[in-house]
Amino acid sequence: MTAAPIPDVIARRGVEAVHDRAARGMFERIAPTYDLLNGVLSAGLDRRWRARAVRAGMQAAPPGPMLDLCAGTMDLTALLARARPGERVVAVDFSPAMLEAGKHKVPGAEIVVADATRLPFDDGTFSLVMCGFGMRNLGDTAVGAREILRVLRPGGCFVTLELFRPERVTTKAFHFAYARAVLPVVGGLVSGDRGAYRYLARSMAGFLSCAEYETLLGEVGFAGVFGADLTLGVASIVVARAPGKGAS
Ligand SMILES: C[S@@+](CC[C@H](N)C(=O)[O-])C[C@H]1O[C@@H](n2cnc3c(N)ncnc32)[C@H](O)[C@@H]1O
Repeated sequence: MTAAPIPDVIARRGVEAVHDRAARGMFERIAPTYDLLNGVLSAGLDRRWRARAVRAGMQAAPPGPMLDLCAGTMDLTALLARARPGERVVAVDFSPAMLEAGKHKVPGAEIVVADATRLPFDDGTFSLVMCGFGMRNLGDTAVGAREILRVLRPGGCFVTLELFRPERVTTKAFHFAYARAVLPVVGGLVSGDRGAYRYLARSMAGFLSCAEYETLLGEVGFAGVFGADLTLGVASIVVARAPGKGAS
């Protein structure tokens, strides 16, 4: 593990929207208990979901640099680094505390504090962008998706793992009970920050359905967009390609 400070692009630019400042502050507060709570609140399913998302990325993405966007405590970064040893892996998040809490998991990763909607990378830098449970937190999903498309190489692949707004009746009931009762109560008790877990519950209910998200990706210019449900649609994976080489 290196002791070098994590470069903070947001601090250098000195501008941040109100929504982003609130969300960033919330993730800063829950960073110390984030991993523990993730496991408890998903009954360990989060690990399986991330492994499935990385397998999908490995099948779809050509070799080349990989970006874990909204990397948080870097569980997906670690899986990416293990799946393609020696490949460049970059973890981006706007919360330094989340990255600090996870950076010991991937000593070889490049870590950058930056806003997902204004990435400090040239066009066409990455072969694979993964975003786990991050897209629903962005102030503007379409702006984030366009920025991801910009940093992908032609034929590169974008994999989203997300808790979309459910459409099936059974999953709707599960999400409703979970968001109203389990998330704020258990999350509040363990983290000491009930408000933060109320925000997370609201962000699930207010987000797009998986089908709407697939449409949005198509509209911003991705090709070959397809989604797959995990655990009865509680979570989903969406794979999309940057048009160009190998894109359908
Ligand atoms: C629910 S956590 C998911 C973390 C991780 N990907 C995982 O699989 O557990 C969402 C993360 O997105 C980050 N995030 C939210 N909005 C962001 C933005 N606009 N730019 C960069 N990171 C953002 C938060 O700081 C947080 O670490």
